[in-house]
Amino acid sequence: MAHFRLSTGVLFLLCFLFLPFCLGIRSFPRLMADGTGAEMELNHLLRYSEAPEYRNGDGCRAPVSGEFRTVCDPSIVHIAMTLDSEYLRGSIAAVHSVLKHASCPENIFFHFIAGEFDSASPRVLSRLVRSTFPSLSFKVHIFREDAVINLISTSIRQALENPLNYARNYLGEILDACVERVIYLDSDLVLVDDVYKLWNITLSGARVIGAPEYCHANFTNYFTRSFWSDPDLPRVFAGRSPCYFNTGVMVMDLVRWREGNYRRKVENWMEVQKRRRIYELGSLPPFLLVFGGDVEPIDHRWNQHGLGGDNLRGSCRPLHPGPVSLLHWSGKGKPWVRLDEKKPCPLDDLWEPYDLFNGKMANDSRQQNRMGFGSSSSAFISWL
Ligand SMILES: *[C@@H]1O[C@H](CO)[C@@H](O)[C@H](O)[C@H]1NC(C)=O
Ligand SMILES: *[C@@H]1O[C@H](CO)[C@@H](O)[C@H](O)[C@H]1NC(C)=O
Ligand SMILES: *[C@@H]1O[C@H](CO)[C@@H](O)[C@H](O)[C@H]1NC(C)=O
Repeated sequence: MAHFRLSTGVLFLLCFLFLPFCLGIRSFPRLMADGTGAEMELNHLLRYSEAPEYRNGDGCRAPVSGEFRTVCDPSIVHIAMTLDSEYLRGSIAAVHSVLKHASCPENIFFHFIAGEFDSASPRVLSRLVRSTFPSLSFKVHIFREDAVINLISTSIRQALENPLNYARNYLGEILDACVERVIYLDSDLVLVDDVYKLWNITLSGARVIGAPEYCHANFTNYFTRSFWSDPDLPRVFAGRSPCYFNTGVMVMDLVRWREGNYRRKVENWMEVQKRRRIYELGSLPPFLLVFGGDVEPIDHRWNQHGLGGDNLRGSCRPLHPGPVSLLHWSGKGKPWVRLDEKKPCPLDDLWEPYDLFNGKMANDSRQQNRMGFGSSSSAFISWL
């Protein structure tokens, strides 16, 4: 067990030896207090197969900065996603789906946001991503959950209270200052189309975010009676015709976001919610309050949402009519859970081809070597 208890010095060495991009970790990961726990964690994380290698097609922009693409290279498409032990399998499938359908997969840079206190440390999560997607450009950024924990109020489903759900509100600070546009994606979705089409959309006027809007949904229901009956609060929508949109797929202009201090605007509504309950859902309503009616409407094909069913039962749902570029299992039911329980919904079959989880490979020694732990792990012990 001893070799899983890594000192900070060894972490640095590991980092330089195995990770070309060497993470984006801003602080030292906490050390694992319990070697046995760390080993169990690794055993679980080892169970992913390596994704096929995806290469750029013709006509992709070459890196501006020479042979290597840095995070600030203007030819890069930036995608931000959260990465945590609970939704890991979904995140890995989502990345796989993006790469598979992208015209220029090598020009995509993933920004993974990991929680400081996740049961799998950011370091272990990074190593897993590296072993699953050996040539992927990515960083793992640590989200300091204490920044937001006091702002979170209870909601109708416990999963909605995970601090990491709020990370999308902090992308302006978390991502490198040179990142001017980012696509935020939830972890329970897959793309079945070229992400460049989404990346290329225009955010007209001074619009800060783009997302598909759903104007037939009854907007009243996203806020409580206490909100609508207040003499002042509903005036936030004065001069706007707000429609529901889902925050699981957003194109964000981070320049306008930072300039307009939108993080603070979202937080202000979370503070109102703490004092008096104005909505029931988690991280979504404050975005509706700030951006509702002021969102660049993206084609609905980019968020076929609700496939996870409702928030309480997670029943099967059909697709909305029209073309599909992105399937989103928002709601309680997740395809990997239903597939494991052998009770899949019909559309879960569309998620399965992107799944790289492979429980049977847990004892595969080749897999262990890929992670840098197999035969060479004894070398690390001697450094401790
Ligand atoms: C996106 O825009 C770039 C630059 O304008 C263009 O070269 C590329 O073909 C576009 N890709 C798609 C899929 O529209
Ligand atoms: C929307 O819901 C509210 C409250 O549930 C209801 O009073 C209102 O009539 C509904 N509006 C429409 C257009 O259905
Ligand atoms: C891995 O091996 C151990 C013992 O060598 C065994 O108990 C366990 O069931 C195996 N796990 C899998 C998933 O095959």
